[in-house]
Amino acid sequence: MTNDTKRAPIGVFDSGIGGLTVVREIIGRLPRENIIYLGDTARVPYGTKSSRTVIAYSLHNAGFLLSRGIKMLVVACNTSSAVSLPSLSREFEIPVIGVIGPGAKKAGEATKSGRVGVIGTPSTIKSSAYKKALEAISPQIEIYSRACPLFVPLAEEGWTEGEISELIAKEYLAPFKEYDIDVLVLGCTHYPLLKPTIQKVMGDGITLVDSAEETAKEIESMLHERDLLNDGTGAPAREYYLTDVSDTFVSVAGRFLGERIENIEMVDITGTAL
Ligand code: DGL
Repeated sequence: MTNDTKRAPIGVFDSGIGGLTVVREIIGRLPRENIIYLGDTARVPYGTKSSRTVIAYSLHNAGFLLSRGIKMLVVACNTSSAVSLPSLSREFEIPVIGVIGPGAKKAGEATKSGRVGVIGTPSTIKSSAYKKALEAISPQIEIYSRACPLFVPLAEEGWTEGEISELIAKEYLAPFKEYDIDVLVLGCTHYPLLKPTIQKVMGDGITLVDSAEETAKEIESMLHERDLLNDGTGAPAREYYLTDVSDTFVSVAGRFLGERIENIEMVDITGTAL
Protein backbone atom coordinates (compact mmCIF):
# COMPACT_ATOMS: atom_id res chain seq x y z
CA MET A 1 0.00 0.00 0.00
CA THR A 2 1.36 3.48 -0.84
CA ASN A 3 2.28 5.88 1.94
CA ASP A 4 -0.30 8.35 0.65
CA THR A 5 -3.07 5.80 1.09
CA LYS A 6 -1.80 4.87 4.57
CA ARG A 7 -1.72 8.55 5.54
CA ALA A 8 -5.26 9.18 4.32
CA PRO A 9 -7.66 9.92 7.18
CA ILE A 10 -10.15 7.60 8.81
CA GLY A 11 -13.64 9.06 8.28
CA VAL A 12 -16.03 8.83 11.23
CA PHE A 13 -19.62 9.98 11.35
CA ASP A 14 -22.45 10.10 13.85
CA SER A 15 -25.79 11.86 14.00
CA GLY A 16 -24.26 14.29 16.49
CA ILE A 17 -21.86 14.25 19.34
CA GLY A 18 -21.94 10.61 20.46
CA GLY A 19 -19.49 9.31 17.86
CA LEU A 20 -16.78 11.31 19.61
CA THR A 21 -16.68 8.49 22.17
CA VAL A 22 -15.51 6.28 19.29
CA VAL A 23 -12.99 8.91 18.11
CA ARG A 24 -11.60 9.05 21.64
CA GLU A 25 -10.95 5.32 21.58
CA ILE A 26 -9.44 5.44 18.08
CA ILE A 27 -7.06 8.21 19.19
CA GLY A 28 -6.11 6.21 22.29
CA ARG A 29 -5.37 3.06 20.29
CA LEU A 30 -4.11 4.55 17.02
CA PRO A 31 -2.56 7.92 17.88
CA ARG A 32 -0.83 8.32 14.50
CA GLU A 33 -4.00 8.14 12.47
CA ASN A 34 -5.45 11.21 10.81
CA ILE A 35 -9.17 11.50 11.53
CA ILE A 36 -12.06 13.40 9.98
CA TYR A 37 -15.23 13.51 12.07
CA LEU A 38 -18.64 14.53 10.86
CA GLY A 39 -21.52 15.07 13.29
CA ASP A 40 -24.86 15.61 11.58
CA THR A 41 -26.00 17.91 14.38
CA ALA A 42 -28.53 19.70 12.18
CA ARG A 43 -30.51 16.49 11.73
CA VAL A 44 -29.95 14.72 15.05
CA PRO A 45 -31.67 12.60 16.34
CA TYR A 46 -31.65 9.69 13.90
CA GLY A 47 -33.00 7.25 16.45
CA THR A 48 -36.60 8.31 16.10
CA LYS A 49 -36.61 8.51 12.30
CA SER A 50 -37.54 5.91 9.70
CA SER A 51 -34.92 3.56 8.21
CA ARG A 52 -35.38 5.19 4.83
CA THR A 53 -34.51 8.62 6.20
CA VAL A 54 -31.55 7.34 8.23
CA ILE A 55 -30.15 5.55 5.14
CA ALA A 56 -30.49 8.75 3.08
CA TYR A 57 -28.75 10.84 5.78
CA SER A 58 -26.02 8.22 6.18
CA LEU A 59 -25.31 8.30 2.44
CA HIS A 60 -24.98 12.11 2.62
CA ASN A 61 -22.55 11.81 5.52
CA ALA A 62 -20.52 9.09 3.85
CA GLY A 63 -20.47 11.04 0.56
CA PHE A 64 -19.01 14.06 2.34
CA LEU A 65 -16.30 12.01 4.05
CA LEU A 66 -15.48 10.16 0.85
CA SER A 67 -14.98 13.50 -0.91
CA ARG A 68 -12.24 14.20 1.69
CA GLY A 69 -10.25 11.16 0.57
CA ILE A 70 -10.74 8.82 3.55
CA LYS A 71 -9.20 5.33 3.61
CA MET A 72 -11.85 3.80 5.86
CA LEU A 73 -15.37 4.69 6.98
CA VAL A 74 -16.46 4.27 10.59
CA VAL A 75 -20.19 4.49 11.23
CA ALA A 76 -20.02 5.65 14.85
CA CYS A 77 -23.78 5.68 15.27
CA ASN A 78 -25.75 2.62 16.33
CA THR A 79 -28.92 3.73 14.56
CA SER A 80 -27.11 4.23 11.29
CA SER A 81 -25.10 1.01 11.74
CA ALA A 82 -28.34 -0.87 12.40
CA VAL A 83 -30.10 0.19 9.25
CA SER A 84 -27.62 1.54 6.71
CA LEU A 85 -24.47 -0.59 6.94
CA PRO A 86 -25.45 -2.89 4.03
CA SER A 87 -26.19 0.14 1.77
CA LEU A 88 -22.93 1.86 2.74
CA SER A 89 -20.83 -1.29 2.28
CA ARG A 90 -22.40 -1.82 -1.15
CA GLU A 91 -21.69 1.76 -2.26
CA PHE A 92 -18.11 1.99 -1.01
CA GLU A 93 -14.94 0.26 -2.06
CA ILE A 94 -13.06 1.29 1.07
CA PRO A 95 -13.52 -0.73 4.30
CA VAL A 96 -16.69 0.20 6.21
CA ILE A 97 -17.23 -0.67 9.86
CA GLY A 98 -20.17 -0.07 12.22
CA VAL A 99 -20.42 -0.25 16.00
CA ILE A 100 -22.95 -3.05 16.43
CA GLY A 101 -20.84 -6.07 15.46
CA PRO A 102 -17.97 -5.23 17.84
CA GLY A 103 -20.38 -4.43 20.72
CA ALA A 104 -22.35 -7.65 20.26
CA LYS A 105 -19.13 -9.69 20.15
CA LYS A 106 -17.96 -8.21 23.45
CA ALA A 107 -21.37 -8.81 25.10
CA GLY A 108 -21.31 -12.45 23.94
CA GLU A 109 -17.88 -12.89 25.54
CA ALA A 110 -18.77 -11.06 28.76
CA THR A 111 -22.05 -12.78 29.73
CA LYS A 112 -21.90 -15.68 32.15
CA SER A 113 -25.62 -16.08 32.76
CA GLY A 114 -26.48 -15.86 29.04
CA ARG A 115 -28.99 -13.07 29.74
CA VAL A 116 -28.04 -9.82 28.02
CA GLY A 117 -29.83 -6.48 27.99
CA VAL A 118 -29.58 -4.02 25.12
CA ILE A 119 -30.57 -0.36 25.27
CA GLY A 120 -30.61 1.95 22.26
CA THR A 121 -32.67 4.38 20.26
CA PRO A 122 -36.17 3.31 19.10
CA SER A 123 -34.85 2.68 15.55
CA THR A 124 -31.92 0.56 16.73
CA ILE A 125 -34.14 -1.54 19.00
CA LYS A 126 -36.83 -1.87 16.32
CA SER A 127 -34.23 -3.08 13.80
CA SER A 128 -33.29 -6.00 16.13
CA ALA A 129 -29.72 -5.54 14.87
CA TYR A 130 -28.15 -6.41 18.24
CA LYS A 131 -30.51 -9.33 18.75
CA LYS A 132 -29.56 -10.78 15.36
CA ALA A 133 -25.83 -10.17 15.94
CA LEU A 134 -25.95 -11.78 19.40
CA GLU A 135 -28.03 -14.75 18.21
CA ALA A 136 -25.48 -15.31 15.45
CA ILE A 137 -22.76 -15.49 18.12
CA SER A 138 -24.74 -17.83 20.36
CA PRO A 139 -28.38 -18.89 19.82
CA GLN A 140 -28.60 -19.71 23.55
CA ILE A 141 -28.25 -16.08 24.65
CA GLU A 142 -31.49 -14.51 25.89
CA ILE A 143 -31.76 -10.89 24.80
CA TYR A 144 -33.91 -8.22 26.43
CA SER A 145 -34.12 -4.86 24.71
CA ARG A 146 -35.51 -1.45 25.48
CA ALA A 147 -35.42 1.90 23.73
CA CYS A 148 -34.31 4.80 25.95
CA PRO A 149 -34.90 7.85 23.75
CA LEU A 150 -34.50 10.49 26.47
CA PHE A 151 -30.87 9.48 27.09
CA VAL A 152 -29.83 11.19 23.84
CA PRO A 153 -31.01 14.74 24.68
CA LEU A 154 -29.68 14.28 28.22
CA ALA A 155 -26.22 13.47 26.85
CA GLU A 156 -26.34 16.25 24.25
CA GLU A 157 -27.37 18.70 26.98
CA GLY A 158 -24.59 17.53 29.29
CA TRP A 159 -27.10 16.38 31.94
CA THR A 160 -25.42 13.06 32.51
CA GLU A 161 -25.39 12.85 36.29
CA GLY A 162 -27.69 13.96 39.08
CA GLU A 163 -31.28 13.59 40.12
CA ILE A 164 -32.97 14.03 36.75
CA SER A 165 -30.79 11.60 34.81
CA GLU A 166 -31.04 9.05 37.64
CA LEU A 167 -34.84 9.20 37.75
CA ILE A 168 -35.06 8.69 33.99
CA ALA A 169 -32.51 5.87 34.10
CA LYS A 170 -34.41 4.13 36.92
CA GLU A 171 -37.62 4.24 34.93
CA TYR A 172 -36.02 2.88 31.75
CA LEU A 173 -33.84 0.25 33.41
CA ALA A 174 -36.29 -1.20 35.96
CA PRO A 175 -37.36 -4.15 33.73
CA PHE A 176 -33.74 -5.31 33.31
CA LYS A 177 -33.48 -5.96 37.04
CA GLU A 178 -36.38 -8.41 36.76
CA TYR A 179 -34.83 -10.13 33.73
CA ASP A 180 -31.73 -10.76 35.86
CA ILE A 181 -29.26 -9.83 33.14
CA ASP A 182 -25.50 -9.72 33.84
CA VAL A 183 -24.46 -7.65 30.80
CA LEU A 184 -26.03 -4.47 29.46
CA VAL A 185 -25.04 -3.21 26.02
CA LEU A 186 -25.00 0.57 25.63
CA GLY A 187 -26.34 0.38 22.08
CA CYS A 188 -26.06 4.08 21.34
CA THR A 189 -22.89 6.12 21.05
CA HIS A 190 -24.39 8.81 23.28
CA TYR A 191 -24.92 6.48 26.22
CA PRO A 192 -21.29 6.11 27.42
CA LEU A 193 -21.67 9.62 28.82
CA LEU A 194 -24.37 8.32 31.12
CA LYS A 195 -22.26 5.32 32.17
CA PRO A 196 -21.81 6.35 35.85
CA THR A 197 -25.56 6.91 36.21
CA ILE A 198 -26.48 3.68 34.42
CA GLN A 199 -23.93 1.72 36.49
CA LYS A 200 -25.29 3.27 39.71
CA VAL A 201 -28.86 2.32 38.81
CA MET A 202 -27.98 -1.20 37.60
CA GLY A 203 -25.44 -1.95 40.36
CA ASP A 204 -21.78 -2.98 40.21
CA GLY A 205 -22.56 -6.61 39.36
CA ILE A 206 -23.66 -5.67 35.84
CA THR A 207 -21.07 -5.35 33.07
CA LEU A 208 -21.71 -2.41 30.79
CA VAL A 209 -20.53 -2.94 27.22
CA ASP A 210 -19.38 0.20 25.45
CA SER A 211 -18.95 -0.62 21.79
CA ALA A 212 -16.61 2.34 21.20
CA GLU A 213 -13.67 0.46 22.69
CA GLU A 214 -14.43 -2.74 20.78
CA THR A 215 -14.89 -0.83 17.54
CA ALA A 216 -11.48 0.81 17.92
CA LYS A 217 -9.89 -2.67 18.34
CA GLU A 218 -11.64 -3.89 15.20
CA ILE A 219 -10.52 -0.79 13.26
CA GLU A 220 -6.93 -1.52 14.21
CA SER A 221 -7.10 -5.11 13.04
CA MET A 222 -8.88 -4.18 9.78
CA LEU A 223 -6.24 -1.54 8.98
CA HIS A 224 -3.46 -3.95 9.92
CA GLU A 225 -4.86 -6.76 7.74
CA ARG A 226 -5.10 -4.40 4.75
CA ASP A 227 -1.68 -2.83 5.37
CA LEU A 228 -3.37 0.53 5.86
CA LEU A 229 -1.99 1.60 9.25
CA ASN A 230 -0.37 5.04 9.12
CA ASP A 231 3.29 4.56 9.97
CA GLY A 232 4.24 8.20 9.28
CA THR A 233 5.78 10.22 12.09
CA GLY A 234 4.17 13.62 11.45
CA ALA A 235 1.67 15.15 13.89
CA PRO A 236 -1.74 13.61 13.20
CA ALA A 237 -4.45 15.83 11.73
CA ARG A 238 -7.89 15.89 13.36
CA GLU A 239 -10.70 17.66 11.58
CA TYR A 240 -14.18 18.12 13.00
CA TYR A 241 -17.17 19.03 10.85
CA LEU A 242 -20.73 19.64 11.98
CA THR A 243 -23.87 20.37 10.05
CA ASP A 244 -24.90 22.81 12.80
CA VAL A 245 -22.87 24.37 15.60
CA SER A 246 -24.67 25.14 18.85
CA ASP A 247 -23.31 27.13 21.79
CA THR A 248 -23.17 24.07 24.03
CA PHE A 249 -21.47 21.80 21.51
CA VAL A 250 -17.86 22.79 22.16
CA SER A 251 -18.00 22.24 25.94
CA VAL A 252 -20.06 19.05 25.79
CA ALA A 253 -18.01 17.69 22.88
CA GLY A 254 -14.82 18.23 24.86
CA ARG A 255 -16.18 15.96 27.58
CA PHE A 256 -17.10 13.24 25.07
CA LEU A 257 -13.72 13.41 23.41
CA GLY A 258 -11.59 13.95 26.51
CA GLU A 259 -9.87 16.95 24.94
CA ARG A 260 -10.91 20.37 23.74
CA ILE A 261 -11.90 20.67 20.09
CA GLU A 262 -10.27 23.74 18.59
CA ASN A 263 -11.21 23.53 14.94
CA ILE A 264 -14.89 22.94 14.21
CA GLU A 265 -16.18 23.78 10.77
CA MET A 266 -19.83 23.94 9.76
CA VAL A 267 -20.68 22.23 6.47
CA ASP A 268 -23.66 21.70 4.20
CA ILE A 269 -23.53 18.06 3.17
CA THR A 270 -26.88 17.64 1.48
CA GLY A 271 -25.30 17.82 -1.96
CA THR A 272 -22.68 15.16 -1.28
CA ALA A 273 -24.76 11.97 -1.43
CA LEU A 274 -23.36 9.27 -3.69
N1 DGL B 1 -25.83 8.41 17.82
C1 DGL B 1 -27.11 7.76 17.79
C2 DGL B 1 -26.92 6.27 18.00
O1 DGL B 1 -25.84 5.81 18.36
C3 DGL B 1 -28.05 8.28 18.82
C4 DGL B 1 -28.54 9.65 18.59
C5 DGL B 1 -29.64 9.71 17.56
O2 DGL B 1 -30.77 9.30 17.81
O3 DGL B 1 -29.32 10.19 16.50
O4 DGL B 1 -27.85 5.53 17.80
